[in-house]
Amino acid sequence: MMRKLKNILITGGCGFIGSNFIRYLFAQPNFHGKVINLDELTYAGNLENLIDIANQYEGNRYFFIKGNICNFDLVKQIFQDYEVDTVVHFAAESHVDRSILGPADFIQTNINGTFTLLEAARVTWTEEKKNGCLFYHISTDEVYGSLGQTGFFSEDTPYRPNSPYSASKAASDHLVRAYYKTYGLPVIISNCTNNYGPYQFPEKLIPLTILNAFEGKPIPVYGKGENIRDWIYVEDHCEAVWLLLQKGKIGEQYNIGGANERRNIDVVRLICNLLDEIVGPLSSGPRENLITFVKDRPGHDFRYAMNIAKIKSTLGWRPKTEFKLGLTKTINWYLNHKDWVERIKSGEYQKWVETFYGETKHAF
Ligand code: NAD
Ligand code: TYD
Repeated sequence: MMRKLKNILITGGCGFIGSNFIRYLFAQPNFHGKVINLDELTYAGNLENLIDIANQYEGNRYFFIKGNICNFDLVKQIFQDYEVDTVVHFAAESHVDRSILGPADFIQTNINGTFTLLEAARVTWTEEKKNGCLFYHISTDEVYGSLGQTGFFSEDTPYRPNSPYSASKAASDHLVRAYYKTYGLPVIISNCTNNYGPYQFPEKLIPLTILNAFEGKPIPVYGKGENIRDWIYVEDHCEAVWLLLQKGKIGEQYNIGGANERRNIDVVRLICNLLDEIVGPLSSGPRENLITFVKDRPGHDFRYAMNIAKIKSTLGWRPKTEFKLGLTKTINWYLNHKDWVERIKSGEYQKWVETFYGETKHAF
């Protein structure tokens, strides 16, 4: 049975990965369907991220709906009105540090929101209708917990989440799996490593470092900067999702990763050096001097690293973007989108910076 991919409900399409994915999708010559983007526009969602897509396709192949994934009546209505056959579920509260300060929104959106979407899919995609339908759930490597110096997460690694964020994502993954096993809902789950690239909200390590380094502000590095993440360029993640949407096997889980492990301190130093090359050093000297070690994150996972053998062997996918090249593109994007940054840095974001980094006594 060919998958329909006609009317795709994308949740959280105004966030970082969601907006990159929608742009990627409309650039695919073999995609002829419609996209319904359901987004609550929290602090992390920005309509501006998709202005080009809205200008070209709104009302024709692209439909934006401002709303909450926890609103069952709304979600069910969308399934019916747009004859949704595919869900790509990105919407989530996504920042670990915020989940430590206030977990409630994470439980609500990540667990109850996913449950609500699954319910709407279950009641709409009846036995007769569900052929060719797909509920694609976007998840993270963080559900697997933390690795020591060696080893990799595989699809069989037991879940051991350590933060309220990863625990809420783990719970949502479990619900998606249960809907497959219990109700036969056609699902796929993918778990990806840390993404970077254009449109990432500057609370996360890479955009925060780029902006602070550019502006000559202190660059906060937690603990000793020795924690390791596996970084993937967002477009490579989008490509993997697009392939899985078309060819992934129902009921399966796939790990996606960058095969690019780096210590935080090395990532930060590389960004500083690249910026020095691109715009010249600061009058006070090289940007590395801005690095400031701050109090560590509680429960800070030491290392994430993915075994991506399954998606490599089944779909022939592999990450393509070399890290230095991806970082250079990302830096240039932020340098060329100062208005976007300025608008983001007003209001809600500024409040967060004051609440969170206020404690570490660094002026931003
Ligand atoms: P993001 O925080 O940039 O965007 C989240 C989007 O969801 C925003 O547009 C926000 O407005 C929307 N949203 C939040 N709560 C909502 C609600 N209740 N109803 C409707 N919309 C809501 O997140 P991101 O970094 O783009 O991550 C997207 C997904 O990918 C998440 O599920 C995340 O767990 C997963 N993921 C992210 C990474 C990463 O490195 N960023 C890595 C692996 C997996
Ligand atoms: P982050 O971008 O928040 O992603 P995640 O916690 O989901 O991996 O953080 C990436 C790494 O960088 C993580 O080990 C925490 C660290 N970090 C800092 O050292 N300083 C910062 O200001 C931030 C935001 C993160």
